[in-house]
Amino acid sequence: MEYLFDTANIGAIKKYGEFIPITGVTSNPSIVKKEGKIDFFAHMREIRSIIGLDKTLHIQVTAQDYEGMMKDAEAILKNVDDQVYIKVPVTLEGLKVIRKLHGRGVNTTATAIYTKMQGFLAMEAGADYIAPYYNRMENMGIDAKDVVGSFAKMIRDYGYSTKILAASFKNMGQVNEAFMAGAQTATMGIDIIEGAFSMPSIQQAVDDFTEDWKSVFGDQLIMD
Ligand code: E4P
Repeated sequence: MEYLFDTANIGAIKKYGEFIPITGVTSNPSIVKKEGKIDFFAHMREIRSIIGLDKTLHIQVTAQDYEGMMKDAEAILKNVDDQVYIKVPVTLEGLKVIRKLHGRGVNTTATAIYTKMQGFLAMEAGADYIAPYYNRMENMGIDAKDVVGSFAKMIRDYGYSTKILAASFKNMGQVNEAFMAGAQTATMGIDIIEGAFSMPSIQQAVDDFTEDWKSVFGDQLIMD
């Protein structure tokens, strides 16, 4: 299993990167919007300098047409680095972009996936990652687990090298379900991580251990 941060917040990436064993960082224009009017490329370079080249950095195009998305991709590769995974929404134009970038040896992440058809075609177009929108699918009454499971089956049956980068989560239960359905990777907002560890029982258990230790040894620690 691989976990990624779904954020462009430098402070959060630094802080939570100390605790969570992530393999990369994803963002999209809506996530970037939360950072205000940043110097986009400088900001992305800073994220890269924090996570290093051994982790994956996924940056989304903003244009919607083939020519525009190709220009966005070229600008990202030039101004950030050539290891970036170019995130491309799976529209008709997007599929053409994924195929073209793949042919040039550029890393791609197919995103905005709500249907099996989008995922299957993106795999065939050569996407390195496909990002099904788990919570958004559930909100629409689509069986997200079944969609992710179908992607996992096709990858196994046909030997695609594509990985499932499950995205769009509202809680850790959905993340776990996506992994159980066969996703190899999942990208989570910081709110998901904070929510997962804010369970009162966890802190209560740790407090109980501390109290029991202190009742015998006082403030003396194991290494004292
Ligand atoms: C990945 O980066 C996706 O764009 C993202 O997870 C979508 O999340 P949302 O559905 O919360 O907007």
